[in-house]
Amino acid sequence: MYNVLFVYLAMAVLISIDTIRRDRIQKGKDQERYVQERTLLGQKTKRVLLELKNLTITFGGVTALNAVNLKIYQGEILALIGPNGAGKTTVFNVVTGVYRATSGEVLLNEQSLDGMKRHHITKIGIARTFQNIRLFGDMTALENVITGTDVHKRSGLLGGLFGMPRARREEKAGRVKAHEILQFIGIDEYSDRLARNLPYGVQRRLEIARALGTNPQLLLLDEPAAGFNPAEKVELANTIKKIRDAGYTVLLIEHDMSLIMGISDRVAVLDFGQKIADDLPSVVQNDKRVIEAYLGVPADAS
Ligand SMILES: Nc1ncnc2c1ncn2[C@@H]1O[C@H](COP(=O)(O)OP(=O)(O)O)[C@@H](O)[C@H]1O
Ligand SMILES: [Mg+2]
Repeated sequence: MYNVLFVYLAMAVLISIDTIRRDRIQKGKDQERYVQERTLLGQKTKRVLLELKNLTITFGGVTALNAVNLKIYQGEILALIGPNGAGKTTVFNVVTGVYRATSGEVLLNEQSLDGMKRHHITKIGIARTFQNIRLFGDMTALENVITGTDVHKRSGLLGGLFGMPRARREEKAGRVKAHEILQFIGIDEYSDRLARNLPYGVQRRLEIARALGTNPQLLLLDEPAAGFNPAEKVELANTIKKIRDAGYTVLLIEHDMSLIMGISDRVAVLDFGQKIADDLPSVVQNDKRVIEAYLGVPADAS
């Protein structure tokens, strides 16, 4: 009787040990596969479109960005998050040539943007929207988008004034393109309305349309969902995904976590001008330093 019990017990122990061992092996394999997949992704399908190298910018005594390194890969949505004053908008301002870096550099397709004028940066493929909407209020929605397409015009002002054939052709092409973009963003029905009379949500979308008018490779969106209700946020998230799927690369500053987690391919986190995390959304979400930065207290302090 005791013998039988002993055999059962021994078997139970052996099975448990085996299960634990197999579990460990599986975990190891999972980890390995995870690393392999990410390396493959990194090497085969990703091309760096924009790179910030050791980017530092100071204003008087304030270091808005402190030796930030960041890569943005072709075709991804990279969310740039962080508490207020972390330096997110400053990244946009340096990348678009509004501010000059104190040290470090920005590269687009491995070409340094150092010393480049704003309109030139727009022309080579970087467009942005602003945290506070900046549209031409007295122009129609369509005209606002046409101003975007104008950056690639080859005919000058005189050609336009005298109705030269190239100017006429370019103007027509600009209008067609602008309508296409308004349709793509889903606001073409407002094309003839003055921008200042448009509902707030449409104005925010129009900003994106105008930026797309410049035919960018990289689209920088600064808090595009600010002031949106949940339904508008969902709609915007779909639009941003659609933009990415159409081949644009998107760098997105946003506060709404569910929006970010829902659409981003990667998330980079700034805190007091320093990059504290840069990874897959699910990894960043559970990062201790990120949680601390947002809560303002150490994550393990009660
Ligand atoms: N033009 C400027 N002059 C002085 N300080 C600035 C200027 N622009 C940004 N800053 C400072 O740089 C820091 C980062 O600002 P910002 O990039 O706007 O933060 P975020 O967009 O993450 O909220 C803040 O401390 C801000 O006050
Ligand atoms: Mg900002």
